[in-house]
Amino acid sequence: MARHLITSALPYINGIKHLGNMAGSMLPADVYARYLRQRGHEVLYICATDEHGTPAELAARAAGLPVAEFCARQHEAQRAVYDGFGLRFDHFGRTSSARNTEMTQHFARRLKERGFIEERATRQVYSPADGRFLPDRYIAGTCPYCGYEAARGDQCENCTRVLEPTGLLDARSAISGSTDLEVRETTHLFLLQSRLEKEVAAFVEEAGARWPALASSIAGKWLTEGLLDRAITRDLEWGVPVPADVWPELAAEGKVFYVWFDAPIGYIGATREWADAAGGGEERDWRSWWYASEGTVRYTEFMGKDNVPFHTVMFPATELGTGEPWKKVDQVKAFNWLTYYGGKFSTSRNRGVFGDAAIELLPADYWRYFLTAAAPESDDAAFSWELFASVVNKDLADTLGNFVNRVLTFSRRRFGDEVPGGHAAGDAERRLGGEMARLLAAYEEQLDALQFRKAAFALRALWSAGNAYLDEKAPWQEIRTDPDAAALTLRTAMNLIRLYAVVSAPVIPFTAEALAGVFASGTGAGADSPASAGSWVTAEEAGALDAIRPGTPFTVPPVLFTKIGDDDVAAYRERFGDGGA
Ligand code: 2FM
Ligand code: ZN
Repeated sequence: MARHLITSALPYINGIKHLGNMAGSMLPADVYARYLRQRGHEVLYICATDEHGTPAELAARAAGLPVAEFCARQHEAQRAVYDGFGLRFDHFGRTSSARNTEMTQHFARRLKERGFIEERATRQVYSPADGRFLPDRYIAGTCPYCGYEAARGDQCENCTRVLEPTGLLDARSAISGSTDLEVRETTHLFLLQSRLEKEVAAFVEEAGARWPALASSIAGKWLTEGLLDRAITRDLEWGVPVPADVWPELAAEGKVFYVWFDAPIGYIGATREWADAAGGGEERDWRSWWYASEGTVRYTEFMGKDNVPFHTVMFPATELGTGEPWKKVDQVKAFNWLTYYGGKFSTSRNRGVFGDAAIELLPADYWRYFLTAAAPESDDAAFSWELFASVVNKDLADTLGNFVNRVLTFSRRRFGDEVPGGHAAGDAERRLGGEMARLLAAYEEQLDALQFRKAAFALRALWSAGNAYLDEKAPWQEIRTDPDAAALTLRTAMNLIRLYAVVSAPVIPFTAEALAGVFASGTGAGADSPASAGSWVTAEEAGALDAIRPGTPFTVPPVLFTKIGDDDVAAYRERFGDGGA
């Protein structure tokens, strides 16, 4: 069994994330991690809040809190939402941790020793009124390309062009609004990526051949344009400090590393936090995941497409530049955007659903299933309440929920609280078994290939096959002429329920527990949690459909999924906006 290291792009600390963020990183990573654990692999799934940079400082200022306090609160708020969604990280860390500081400074030291970091004089915007330099988002103004008036120093939100703070028109301080700005010279550290270009290109050529097109084409484009040397420090209060032993002057000036330098290193920092958290004298081995682990660990990263250059080119450049054997990414799963009725999710414009509201509104599994089935994989995908309701109603309520309810209530009414015996399996059951083994293999193939949309369809096909079997056998008619035949059908259908508990668990873990709970009061096969390591079924077991024996007690769970009606859709559109607004 392989060891799987999984990371999902670290969410920025400045606010609760919307559904699109989760659909394109954390949720699919969690589905994959759960699947691999169930298949018996050793898995380490790491995530963290990305806490540095100007967005964190500005959001803290807007909230009227010291940055450290703001980040601590927001970290807990995000954690609560992810818990609610059933995201089972092995560790959810923070890039502001002492371990990440240690790791980031280590990387910088090594890169300097090997001649890949140098100090350069740069020209930065300085605000006398604020008494400070204004990096990135601290400066606002008019975009020189499209005329958008609220463009930020690093990027125009309207036309998405990357900007230089010195290039903005009518520039003003985002703190004081002062327009009395000047350009001053100051020294920053530069990562000499141009000198690492050959090594990075060789890595991308080799590893990128296995990446899906979305990731490899973006990486290829960046390499073709050539790797530029980049400033990796900023004048900010909050960030990983430049180590004073190496750069005493810059440290004295209070320079910190740029957020995109320390954030990916944060994957390692958070793994070290995980190791520290073991407690009880036990020391977890973080090194065997990250250091000299090529060939023994398979590393899969999940992210939105805007993050691809940083993960396929810049982070590998940082790792390669150390000359140390840091684990580099094996598989890059990138996603397009999930839009809200074709537009952007936006807190300020009250458009779209954010994680905390989503989880208050409806159970996590509704979201998890929908966002997997509608994952923005081959293209951008649009969320709409109409589509969401139709997927939940058809797939979850009509196909899975109804099957479970029909089988269990009918069996209890006719045969009582235990799984009925009846005839031995016949042709129909053998055919069904063959079908289940085939559909299970198709589902596994999609999950192994990180094709989440197709995996959701394959899962639904497993549920549908159960309905088709039930309709074909029609136990409500069999019962009239041959009760043993009806008992066989119901017993087989109950075995399908047990199978569904296991195979549905990566996508809808809460429902999977409820399904497993149907047989949990008895002894034997039903008592195990589907989420436990190694709980997956073989094709043979899936085909046999006999794990739940006659006489096993069962209970009928409350309705698994409530349908979303037209009235609900109208109310949600009213509350969350409908994109046309
Ligand atoms: O784009 C983002 O949301 C970043 N916070 C992702 C960082 S991923 C990693 F490198 F830390
Ligand atoms: Zn613009």
